[in-house]
Amino acid sequence: MFKIEKNYKLNELEKIFDENNQGFVYDKASITSDEFIKYVCVENGEPIGYLVLYPKCDFAVKDDYDISVSIPTNSIYIWHIITKKGYEGRGVAKSLINFLKEEYKRFNIYAILDVNNFKSNKLHERLGFLPVDKFEKAYKEDLEVYTLVRFYAQDKG
Ligand SMILES: CC(C)(COP(=O)(O)OP(=O)(O)OC[C@H]1O[C@@H](n2cnc3c(N)ncnc32)[C@H](O)[C@@H]1OP(=O)(O)O)[C@@H](O)C(=O)NCCC(=O)NCCS
Repeated sequence: MFKIEKNYKLNELEKIFDENNQGFVYDKASITSDEFIKYVCVENGEPIGYLVLYPKCDFAVKDDYDISVSIPTNSIYIWHIITKKGYEGRGVAKSLINFLKEEYKRFNIYAILDVNNFKSNKLHERLGFLPVDKFEKAYKEDLEVYTLVRFYAQDKG
């Protein structure tokens, strides 16, 4: 089990972003923005991965995605998640998302995945996220296809 810290060593997270976004993550500024919560996976005092959470339900508007389903108010959104280069495949991303599931039991957790991002698609599928919408978005000259996935709120009480 890894230790998860909140808003920890943000300058190190920026390095993780630079080294390992793999062309799938764009919004580096979210790391230092107060609108987002950063959950950081820590080993020996050092970040080895992190997740940027947008803790509100209006994420599609904010991220400019043209989704066609309505989002319940008790919803949060994984803005992005990155594991440090050299630390992939050790359960870092799994620990971060499982932590989120515990912390936000009464919330639906959403993410938007590029269909070409094989590892991210496998990760969310493995952790029980289900596809709820599919849409296109222009990025530079390309038309990218995305899937909206949802992990349903567990504890409604
Ligand atoms: C996607 C990413 C966050 C996964 O992080 P990770 O720490 O390596 O993932 P984990 O080790 O926790 O793996 C969890 C599950 O994801 C799936 N998975 C992860 N990497 C995989 C791979 N290379 N092939 C197949 N499945 C994979 C597996 O189901 C795995 O569970 P299992 O090992 O029990 O089968 C990481 O590859 C990354 O940082 N990618 C670049 C940035 C990015 O694309 N982020 C997502 C978009 S916001």
